[in-house]
Amino acid sequence: MDYLIVGALIFSVFLIPTAYAGVIGAPWAPTRMKAVKKAFDDIEVDQKDIVVDLGAGNGSIIAEAAVRGAYAIGYELSPIMWIVAQIRILGKKTAHIMYGNFFRISLPKNTTLVFFFLMPKHMDQVGKYLAKQSINDKTLILSYAFPFKGVQTLNVYREKKCAPLYLYDMSTIRFYFDTTST
Ligand SMILES: C[S@@+](CC[C@H](N)C(=O)[O-])C[C@H]1O[C@@H](n2cnc3c(N)ncnc32)[C@H](O)[C@@H]1O
Repeated sequence: MDYLIVGALIFSVFLIPTAYAGVIGAPWAPTRMKAVKKAFDDIEVDQKDIVVDLGAGNGSIIAEAAVRGAYAIGYELSPIMWIVAQIRILGKKTAHIMYGNFFRISLPKNTTLVFFFLMPKHMDQVGKYLAKQSINDKTLILSYAFPFKGVQTLNVYREKKCAPLYLYDMSTIRFYFDTTST
């Protein structure tokens, strides 16, 4: 009987939010860091940057941004991945992983770079979410694997064994999603 209660607790605390994150954003899958490092080199991510990861997974993007000196904040809805990410960023003072649904939070106004790796069916919702944020028009947006359909990219980073990494600026995202979301 006790085992049943413990099992039910584990299921509801760990597995239900993890499954929910998979439905509303994306299930966990690793981001190939070679493409991310190439983009971070090109964008020159450093101490001046506030980097946000929407769906931080194992925390590798946040850790990489922090290593370069950026203040980095990831949001993660799966308690399992949140714990993994907390371990991944141990000792990195400028790295933070917040627990929760990023759709329900407002991004820091001084965000300079937003990264995400989410399912293609949610890209329009993500675009509308970004367009509503009080972030600067010059804020850069990186989407791993899936582009915003019909939105002009600033660059596409391609590396062997990596999915493409699409770079946008906020003014273009805002222009496109402000006019289509009314
Ligand atoms: C494809 S994975 C990205 C993995 C991450 N970039 C990495 O390399 O580990 C998507 C992640 O987003 C999380 N996620 C999906 N929707 C979310 C939401 N609305 N709020 C917070 N996290 C979300 C999932 O739990 C999953 O860990």
